[in-house]
Amino acid sequence: MSSGSAGAIARYETAIGQLQSYVGDPIATIDGALAESPDFVAGHLMKALTLATLAERQYAPAIAQSIAAARDHGARANARELGLLQAAAQVADGDWHAACRSLDAVLTDFPRDALALQVAHLMDFYRGDALNLRNRVARVLPHWSREVPGYSYVLGMHAFGLEEMNQYPEAEETARAALAIEPKDGWAVHAATHVMEMQGRIGEGIEWLVSRERDWAPDNGFAFHNFWHLALFHLDGADHAKALELYDRAVHPGPAQMLLTLVDATALLWRLVLDGADVGPRFAEVADEWESKLDGEGGNYAFNDLHAALAFAATGRDAAMARLLQHVARAAESAGTNGAMEREVGMPLIRAIAAYGRGRFDEAADLIAPVRDIAHRFGGSHAQRDILSLTLIDAARRAGRASLARHVLAERLVAKPGGAWGRRILARIDATSPATH
Ligand SMILES: [Fe+2]
Repeated sequence: MSSGSAGAIARYETAIGQLQSYVGDPIATIDGALAESPDFVAGHLMKALTLATLAERQYAPAIAQSIAAARDHGARANARELGLLQAAAQVADGDWHAACRSLDAVLTDFPRDALALQVAHLMDFYRGDALNLRNRVARVLPHWSREVPGYSYVLGMHAFGLEEMNQYPEAEETARAALAIEPKDGWAVHAATHVMEMQGRIGEGIEWLVSRERDWAPDNGFAFHNFWHLALFHLDGADHAKALELYDRAVHPGPAQMLLTLVDATALLWRLVLDGADVGPRFAEVADEWESKLDGEGGNYAFNDLHAALAFAATGRDAAMARLLQHVARAAESAGTNGAMEREVGMPLIRAIAAYGRGRFDEAADLIAPVRDIAHRFGGSHAQRDILSLTLIDAARRAGRASLARHVLAERLVAKPGGAWGRRILARIDATSPATH
């Protein structure tokens, strides 16, 4: 580091640990470091890059301010800081792919830069880059060991990357190795949870999360998402009451503080409704939140926009849907990473969800089908994007296209032989259109 008092650097170390563990507030900690040492270039860069990982437009002014401060104090900035500065500027400019290349250049020379690795991993997630969720971590792994602080978190990231590359046994083994070092590593718990989700190991998934809840839940900013996974396991068994209890207690106990949690809340409600559950006033509450953020965040990130569309479709909010589509169409014309995401994935899917909401199921199915296999381009996990398959199957069934519904459902029946949800959907299709062969 080219600047910063010893106290500020100590706070930086604390903030890195908070960022890796999701326990505590790294932004508050780094603000403390910057108050103590206003010329702390690495601190300004950490603030910019950490805020960027939230993928919300509301933080753009703070990110720009941090980048400007890093430049102002950066006359003696070293090579690593200059690399991080370049990455931060590229994120701020909307080029997430370039930012990840810059972060990788930092990691080439500084493979133990935990900030560069953590931020790039989350950006890989937002960009739907499964290859680098695995390989970017693999490239630095030889430089880490049990003797290096934070090693468990690197293993946890590698485990998630292995899972998103469908290497389930290796992913689970790596997640368990991370947890042997740090049982509270919520990201490693999450990686193994994904393995169980993808393999349809429903009972085991519930046991896995419940038995470890005291490790991954208390004071953990990521706990809402592991609770979301737990609710999905209960939903598989048609335990709507339990899924809703988890929703009320842990996924959406009040207005969402982050769009990440609003996305999960929306996705869970949509799945529950697809499965025939009565979710009461919850969807209206969530749609209110999306609507209040629409002009600020609409068109900022296609994956979030899709979830806003789900909330508007579920509550019949045609005017809000039309406004969302305007934001998305404008974003689709822009350069940058999200522009392409909106053009290729976000806009067709949002049109599909709007059609579904209006009861035009044939059109919805036709819009989802060609995009589903490239939908990783707008990020999220396989488990999150499963909502597209579920919606396509339901739209096809309602449109009277039982063959298409059964065709897509077959994927689930093969991948998750232990899951009950697929068989339930099949029974629903059979009840609508009895199989003829
Ligand atoms: Fe997940």
